[in-house]
Amino acid sequence: MPLCRLWKLIMTRKDSPAALYIHIPFCVQKCSYCDFYSLEAWDSSCLQSYVDALTGEIRLRCHEWGERCFASIFFGGGTPSLLNTAQIATILDSIYRYYRVHPQAEITIEANPATLGRQKLRGYCYAGVNRISLGVQSFFDDELLLLGRIHSAQDVYKTFDMLRQAGIDNINLDLIYGLPNQSMGRWLANLRKAIELKPEHISAYLLQLEASTPMGQQVQHKELALPDDELLLQMYHQTRNLLQESNYFQYEISNFALTGRTCQHNIFYWKAYDYLGLGVGAVSKLGGIRRLNQAAIEQYIKKVEQHELPPQTLLESMDEHEQLADAIIMGLRMVEGINRQELYHRFGLDPYSRYEKEIDECINRELLLQDGDMLRLTEKGYFLSNEVFYRFLP
Ligand SMILES: C[S@@+](CC[C@H](N)C(=O)[O-])C[C@H]1O[C@@H](n2cnc3c(N)ncnc32)[C@H](O)[C@@H]1O
Ligand code: SF4
Repeated sequence: MPLCRLWKLIMTRKDSPAALYIHIPFCVQKCSYCDFYSLEAWDSSCLQSYVDALTGEIRLRCHEWGERCFASIFFGGGTPSLLNTAQIATILDSIYRYYRVHPQAEITIEANPATLGRQKLRGYCYAGVNRISLGVQSFFDDELLLLGRIHSAQDVYKTFDMLRQAGIDNINLDLIYGLPNQSMGRWLANLRKAIELKPEHISAYLLQLEASTPMGQQVQHKELALPDDELLLQMYHQTRNLLQESNYFQYEISNFALTGRTCQHNIFYWKAYDYLGLGVGAVSKLGGIRRLNQAAIEQYIKKVEQHELPPQTLLESMDEHEQLADAIIMGLRMVEGINRQELYHRFGLDPYSRYEKEIDECINRELLLQDGDMLRLTEKGYFLSNEVFYRFLP
């Protein structure tokens, strides 16, 4: 590679902002549909040991990432809102100490409505948290019970009021549709209740069931029935219509926001930018390298206590062609699509020349739409997105 191009790539990488993800792998009780990595058996000393290990990893990894400026910090899980104020403050203080954080960084915590109190919330804000993503899932108690949630619909309303009273002006509500036996009426009622609360952001996820989860088992044994594909498609259409009528603009398959309130953290993933993942089971991407922190909590804590970095698995090592393909596939998830100039600048490759045949084919089949330098999925392309994506696979 010519030296000037290599230098440009290094500069681009050092100067480009990155996102930081912190995984908190604890839940009060496992929900019946969830297969995320999280543990139910923990106590306060276990939480504290994990927080200590996290601050150790923050310090140990800073030589790899110290020069990057983080524009987003995201506490995900599991249930990060199980951590008390001091623990969140300690983690954030370590990040501020060892890394550059943008003064306007988006700092989000995923929260379960049963785990937040006024005091805790005030402490989170004081530590720098400025966005809360609330796991609501449903506004109906019978659905919450079926999902194995630990909170009621009433808890959601109480928590939402508390967030507003604490001055949080950037709130996301997570909802899940396509639940067993869910009717269109029920789902739209859920959506309307979310809209009435006027959050800044709504994520509406289609239920995904792994066979390993209790609900997955119940469906497999025909004890529960999922809505059929036609109804799910209609639910998706109606979701888009209702949310857009209410000024929530769709910017990704499952994500809707008021103007200017998109989730910056998720956009980093979809633009295939770099991100640092800290904690057990967290994934990091730096250039074309994707690595996974192994998901064994005892080993993670022990390693950091010995002042060593926790073990990682190499997931992917992508050359520039593969990185371009990755950025196209991820970027097309966003409604705005991908920008030819931006990708050329980042990878030194023109996506239109590299994939001329594939792009032309998709445009002819009305799966993709070209608009100046932007390329995006059409309405038809959204529903057949896998057909589009596989053409770009390296
Ligand atoms: C990691 S959870 C974090 C929030 C917090 N743990 C809670 O559940 O309250 C993020 C979101 O993923 C969504 N989710 C989890 N499992 C899902 C599944 N199997 N299908 C669809 N969405 C799911 C839920 O909407 C959940 O709020
Ligand atoms: S959905 Fe959230 S609270 Fe429920 S088990 Fe998964 S991570 Fe934990």
